[in-house]
Amino acid sequence: MAFTGKDNIQEIKARLSIVDLARRYLDLRPMGNRLVAPCPFHQETKPSFSINESEGTFYCFGCQAAGDIFDFYSRINGSDFRDTLEALAEETGVVLKQYQGKDGENTTKQVSHKSEMLKMHEIATAHFQSNLQSHAIASKYIDGRDINLDVRERYSLGFSLDAWQSLTDVFKRSGFNLDVAVECGLVMKSKDGRYFDRFRNRLMFPIRDVNGRTIAFGGRVIPELDDGESAKYLNSNGTPIYKKSQQLFGLDVARRSVTSQKNILITEGYMDVLALYQFGYMNAVAVLGTSFPDEQVKRISELAKHVELLFDGDAPGREAAFKACGKLLVRGISCHVVLFPQGEDIDSLLKEQGKEVFENLRQQSIEGLNFCIQTLKQRSPKDAVEWARAFLEQIEMPELFQPTATKLASGLGIDEAELRLGVVTQKRSNAAKNTQGGQSSPRESTSNSPRKTRDAQILTVAARYPHRLISLQEMGADLLLESPKARHFWDKLSQYSVEEILVFLTDAEKLFWVQCRSADAPPLDNEEGELLAIQHLIKSIQKKSYASSVAAALSQGSNNYETQREYMRALIEAQGRNNVQ
Ligand code: UTP
Ligand code: MN
Repeated sequence: MAFTGKDNIQEIKARLSIVDLARRYLDLRPMGNRLVAPCPFHQETKPSFSINESEGTFYCFGCQAAGDIFDFYSRINGSDFRDTLEALAEETGVVLKQYQGKDGENTTKQVSHKSEMLKMHEIATAHFQSNLQSHAIASKYIDGRDINLDVRERYSLGFSLDAWQSLTDVFKRSGFNLDVAVECGLVMKSKDGRYFDRFRNRLMFPIRDVNGRTIAFGGRVIPELDDGESAKYLNSNGTPIYKKSQQLFGLDVARRSVTSQKNILITEGYMDVLALYQFGYMNAVAVLGTSFPDEQVKRISELAKHVELLFDGDAPGREAAFKACGKLLVRGISCHVVLFPQGEDIDSLLKEQGKEVFENLRQQSIEGLNFCIQTLKQRSPKDAVEWARAFLEQIEMPELFQPTATKLASGLGIDEAELRLGVVTQKRSNAAKNTQGGQSSPRESTSNSPRKTRDAQILTVAARYPHRLISLQEMGADLLLESPKARHFWDKLSQYSVEEILVFLTDAEKLFWVQCRSADAPPLDNEEGELLAIQHLIKSIQKKSYASSVAAALSQGSNNYETQREYMRALIEAQGRNNVQ
């Protein structure tokens, strides 16, 4: 990516430390001179994830994730580099300079579109909030549902007026491009080219990203104002700033509590999240739509170790819970299912019957795998076995395979050996695939093997002491690099400063860089020693290649006697020196 705004990156890094950013998501603990935590990017309980504060980098021994604040933010939020840059710039108050995309195409327009969309959502949130304050029927509806003021404010509830041009006019007056408002789903355009509000006469729930920025809305009809023709909820569709499958309603509020408790409550509706919050459960979110896409599962697995699924007790609710359990369990997330009596949800139960009744239901919740077994028993044995095998094959943590297989087999009343037979073969082939994948992973190019390649030895010293690059160059280190990848990495080392380089590195290079400079690398207090060692290596390689070129020249034969003697002397000298080494 070619930047014209390199300074922006430094500026953001200077204003936001990796420790402050990571603390929002992780429970960091000091270990030696590092800060460590269980890695948010793969399932584990041991703290393999470590931060090097002075370098501004992170590194996981387990899954080899590595990088700086931009990498951390992108990974944990599932956002691309541009979104990350914008978000962190906004947060730190850094004004971004124009920058160019990969192919040199100017993406400033798109960037400003996205930030314009976010701005519009911010304005819309405030607009709807102020509507609610002055709208008697909407306010009465909220009171009637026992939503207290704290909840109303925490979730920034609002109301969209029964008007065609209320929000549209606000945008027009503020000079926004209305076509962008259409693109992000707040405004519609009629055939004759007139713009009008998409959300009208509804109670408005801002849908916010994990950082609390409104990126979409859900709007509920208010019965007193309902014409009986519209859907109960109208939601934003996918837009450039809103990917439904990646978001969970309420995660911005719940995040802190989820990461500290490692427990998350998953519900089906906006109102359920609000009710739980009001009753003191700060770790609740709602799936946006009925399915539970893999991206959401992944996101949850990065934050929590245990999930409670609070779903409707009806058939669709049970089916949704069954599917969700399967997806969570294979990732090593334990889960329990709390099913609500027909016609009730958490919201109605808490408000009508109180916290104790809910706690009782929670006590009776069914463990995820048992719930799956119960569900499977309602199906044909063939379907059940097929499901069980497919499920076992997907289990990601090897230590969970055996106990899960045993429990599934006994629960379903089938022979465990038979259940596992086909599955084990499948697992082996998966394992083989994984090893192959591992070899072509970033490790390969940076050579983590016991004997480092020549390139890796040279680049290790270069990455550890980039301010000595000139000395290394004088020794001829760069000329000895064999692979194009290594030469490319060297070029970057000489082109960029330590502070800015990470942005320009590929994932493999980033991992190499971080590994060389932090985590399990030896301390950086033997610069002269390490340089001397690499100098010896370089000299010995140079001598060997000199000797072999002399030998080659001799073997080709030269007519000139003097020249031959010169070569001979050089050869003997070189070999002698090599023997000393
Ligand atoms: P529910 O119909 O159970 O609504 O839909 P609710 O959340 O309990 O709301 P109240 O208590 O009736 O006010 C559950 C969720 O399904 C989505 C919404 O996210 C809702 O919160 N939904 C439902 C829609 O998106 N569209 C609809 O028309 C209905
Ligand atoms: Mn409800």
